[in-house]
Amino acid sequence: MKKDRYNVGIVGATGLVGRSFLEILEQRNFPIGELCLFASENSRGEVIQFKDVDYIVGVLNENSFKKRKLDIVLSSPSASVSAKYTPLAAREGAVVIDNTSYFRMDSDVPLVVPEVNLGDIKYYGKKNIISNPNCSTIQMVVPLKLIHDKYKIKRVVVSTYQSTSGAGKKVMDELFHQTMMLMKAKDDISPHELPVQIAFNCIPQIDVFDEDRNTKEEIKMIEETHKIMHDNSIGVSATAVRVPVFFCHGESVNIETEKPFDVKDIVDLLSEAKGVKVTDDIFSECKNKQYPYQAHVAGSDNIFVGRIRRDSSVPNGLNLWIVADNIRKGAALNAIQIAEILIQKYL
Ligand SMILES: NC(=O)c1ccc[n+]([C@@H]2O[C@H](COP(=O)([O-])OP(=O)(O)OC[C@H]3O[C@@H](n4cnc5c(N)ncnc54)[C@H](OP(=O)(O)O)[C@@H]3O)[C@@H](O)[C@H]2O)c1
Repeated sequence: MKKDRYNVGIVGATGLVGRSFLEILEQRNFPIGELCLFASENSRGEVIQFKDVDYIVGVLNENSFKKRKLDIVLSSPSASVSAKYTPLAAREGAVVIDNTSYFRMDSDVPLVVPEVNLGDIKYYGKKNIISNPNCSTIQMVVPLKLIHDKYKIKRVVVSTYQSTSGAGKKVMDELFHQTMMLMKAKDDISPHELPVQIAFNCIPQIDVFDEDRNTKEEIKMIEETHKIMHDNSIGVSATAVRVPVFFCHGESVNIETEKPFDVKDIVDLLSEAKGVKVTDDIFSECKNKQYPYQAHVAGSDNIFVGRIRRDSSVPNGLNLWIVADNIRKGAALNAIQIAEILIQKYL
């Protein structure tokens, strides 16, 4: 018999994504029965309010999921913590929707953006795990899929402008601290979380380098795009850059399609899509309608697309500027959309 309430666990509840899970679960009135919050030893005893009720954060350990009868676990610790604890939750019968990179390329784990490959959710039972893609991949594949289905994409070249919140709360704090120090003309700006200074600076390195001189973040964007779109033939080239912004990732995306298109048809296609908002009125008097930008998009659920224009250097070339809130659509919202489909169709 179908349940009307679901027991939900949140691993990493004190983090940026964890707190956003709670905010969105409340906003969307997700039908929660029991709610269990977990974090590290650092958060022992911390109290978090959800719907005016106080919840004490538990320290995650091997027994955390036993006898809890959790239906869904929303997971957002580090990849190594998820590697250890996600299978334990799955073994106890919960479906884990994991935000870390650890299981994303596992062929028995669906990697899902509902607007793109909702049908893959049905394979959740292979391991009781569904992976949420990387934040920069999510906001790119939604517009790409719409264009690919109609005009067949041959190649994509993306450069990202990723906010510090994409790397967690400590990196946001580092941007804040360094900015304050520089404004006060103090010299205490040594980097702790990032390789070099982030205040008033852009860093063309997200994650570690591989032997081909790409970063892991760039490889994630390539491999995850292929897996989500079920098409390895699309050429993807990525450069990932951390910028001194707190929230939202921007992406400059250059696309080459096989079939010819009219720019107006692309605008119409994107404008009609659910979850996408075209903001591309460059001659408007109203500044925040001209194109999407991070400060305007923060807190929104949509993926914003602007600067839509032809790239005349190749036969069927197109340029887009895409901005989305990396904590919401890039992480927590996408996971909760998956959870909503799970409870509607499968649990
Ligand atoms: N931020 C984004 O835009 C984004 C987007 C997509 C995916 N992700 C992924 O989501 C994950 C979390 O990101 P975030 O931005 O929320 O990071 P964050 O702000 O640094 O939060 C990390 C969370 O993990 C918890 N944690 C750390 N070690 C733990 C342990 N041993 N056991 C249990 N909990 C532990 C932390 O608890 P304490 O507070 O107790 O330390 C905290 O709740 C990462 O894997 C990240 O790659 C993030």
